Amino acid sequence: MPASLPKRYLVTAALPYANGPLHIGHLAGAYLPADIYVRYLRLMGRDVVFVCGSDEHGAAITVKARKEGVTPREIVDTYHASLRDTFQKIGISFNIYHRTSEPLHHQTSQDFFRRLNENGEFIEETTEQYFDEVAQQFLADRYISGTCPVCANPDAYGDQCEKCGTSLNPTDLINPRSMLSGTTPVKRPTKHWFLRLDKHENWLREWINTGKVDGVALHNPNDWKNHVVGQCNSWLDQGLQPRAMTRDLDWGVDVPQEIPDSAGKKLYVWLDAPIGYISATRQWAADNGKDWEKYWKDPETALIHFIGKDNIVFHCLIFPAILHAHGEYILPRNVPANQFMNLEGRKLSTSKNWAVWVHEFVDTFKGQEDALRYNMAKNMPEQKDSEFTWKGFQESTNTELVNNLANFVNRVMVLTHKYYNGLIPEPDPEQAFLSGWQPDTQGQYNEELGILHKRLVEMGREIERFNFREALRMLMEISGAGNALLQFNEPWKAFKDNPAQVRVVLNLAMQFVAAIGVASRPFLPFTAARIRHMLHLPPLEDNGELLHLLNELAEGNPTLPPHHAINEAEYLFTRIPDEVIQQQIDKLQSSDQQNQPGSNEPAVNQPAVYKALAETITFDDFAKLDIRTGTIVEAEKMEKSKKLLRLKVDLGFEQRTILSGIAEHFSPEDVLGRQVIVLANLAPRVMMGVESAGMILMAEDAAGKLSFVAPSEGWPNGYGVK
Ligand code: MF3
Ligand code: ZN
Repeated sequence: MPASLPKRYLVTAALPYANGPLHIGHLAGAYLPADIYVRYLRLMGRDVVFVCGSDEHGAAITVKARKEGVTPREIVDTYHASLRDTFQKIGISFNIYHRTSEPLHHQTSQDFFRRLNENGEFIEETTEQYFDEVAQQFLADRYISGTCPVCANPDAYGDQCEKCGTSLNPTDLINPRSMLSGTTPVKRPTKHWFLRLDKHENWLREWINTGKVDGVALHNPNDWKNHVVGQCNSWLDQGLQPRAMTRDLDWGVDVPQEIPDSAGKKLYVWLDAPIGYISATRQWAADNGKDWEKYWKDPETALIHFIGKDNIVFHCLIFPAILHAHGEYILPRNVPANQFMNLEGRKLSTSKNWAVWVHEFVDTFKGQEDALRYNMAKNMPEQKDSEFTWKGFQESTNTELVNNLANFVNRVMVLTHKYYNGLIPEPDPEQAFLSGWQPDTQGQYNEELGILHKRLVEMGREIERFNFREALRMLMEISGAGNALLQFNEPWKAFKDNPAQVRVVLNLAMQFVAAIGVASRPFLPFTAARIRHMLHLPPLEDNGELLHLLNELAEGNPTLPPHHAINEAEYLFTRIPDEVIQQQIDKLQSSDQQNQPGSNEPAVNQPAVYKALAETITFDDFAKLDIRTGTIVEAEKMEKSKKLLRLKVDLGFEQRTILSGIAEHFSPEDVLGRQVIVLANLAPRVMMGVESAGMILMAEDAAGKLSFVAPSEGWPNGYGVK
């Protein structure tokens, strides 16, 4: 694998379906992390293109159109415009936001199909599929509902049961019904083109686990997230089957006309949509006089896909197989998928209107866009699911942005105006003062700039490793240290007796502000722009300004020279009052009640019903339990069992198979990558022919709902719990 920096980056964020608005789960899952990453790369002077667009095909669109009695075209036009507008308002800085209904995209994906066909990647097969005799059409998986064979949910879809998470084929459903006419569909033969995924299984397994293809190292597998690799292996272990790449539909990309029997056939949406990344790059290149092929075909390009965990199989197995099968394309260097963000204790749900809609947020909280970005980044579901709460949003805004960041910047600005008429004071580098970085130690001007440099370098390193929470924490440490610098040296008291010290302290604090004005841009682009303006510095243009700042700091050169004149102070963030938060909570609750009178999801707060306490044990009894930390690295359903998941748990010193009776509560994808607490010295037990060695500890509430218990994030495996 190339040890040097990639020559260029092509960064993608999952194309959202143009059938509904954007909620905070989408934002935290794919778009914000991608935006932080690319904004950082641009500030480091790297060559990067960030592409996205609307996913305008597939049953999700046609289902919505039918429900609203309009055409698919009307649906995608409306939502495409709204999505584009929302992304822009929340500061997601795509180089292009394209759409899959564009002719260029149809052409690109048809060319791809032709090429795969010529390369012999398809098998053509005629199978029996459900046909609605009243509506006179074949039914997409999403147009068929019926009873789930696994959990008996009467409203399972043809591709998935949303209740138990099992993925299904329409023919698995008991009592299938057509959602078009409500009648029972009949089976009819139809021909489709199946991609030979089975042929690609071996190299995909090698690539996922070693980063190598045919012995050539393309990436370091340790750079990939555990839960991503784990989910891929879980699919690979079940064996890859040929997968249909065509559908009988009337909305989508046509199978190329010259191919025999193509009449009425469309490309499968999961074939055309990821090719949308390529179409978008082509359009961007055409608009900007660039060569798109360098970004997709040169091995020195790093292709990075940002997605949510529900898209892992498509981006880590199926699309790579398609790229490889074509023959000229590079593979993704990394797919840093995020887990899910929940809302106030429950899964976000578009259909149940349990969501915070980004377009509504930007309307209600004008000028506070960065406060949302901040809260999302701070709670980003990087390794496990996380949660958004309105109280948490209020708290992160008021205590961290207002009290820490805005307060620091404001104090330095005000004092500089007050003492020096808004001109940066001249520091004496020999002058003694107390360090803002380490309490009770003497600071030295150049050393303090050196620590600042180091923090910024570390922040960047974390961003490059997709550890955005940690990177944000490091950014906030700079304003924390700035506040401490003021607090320890009290310039407002020292001004009279020790003016030389005040000059060095305020100069230094101003250099911190200037650094924040650049380094905060990936997370807080609107705030960074305001700081630049206050400092009377030109707006950032994303051409290596952070790299430049780092180089200057490494040389001991401050950003703001003495006598530089700053502008007036403006306040960066305002406190969010309780009433505003309460309104949002009320709104969420009321929209929820309207939409689900007979909801079967228990409320978060349940009336307390406690079990009686068990018999007292001695310390020695307790000491017999060997309880360890672990991580679930593989998960799958146990065949013929409703209750059991077969898990592989990494205990650091070994990996074990544990059967866990949680299948009715969690799907394998839900649990992959989770940190868990394991009772490790429980006698092994054979269940349904498989030996289970240990037990995963779970919390259970009065209603029998289960929750994982785990150490805080990032804890190593195999250590004791006492
Ligand atoms: N529209 C899909 C979803 O929302 C994501 C498509 S990503 C792409 O789940 F790669 F296919 F573009
Ligand atoms: Zn089910």
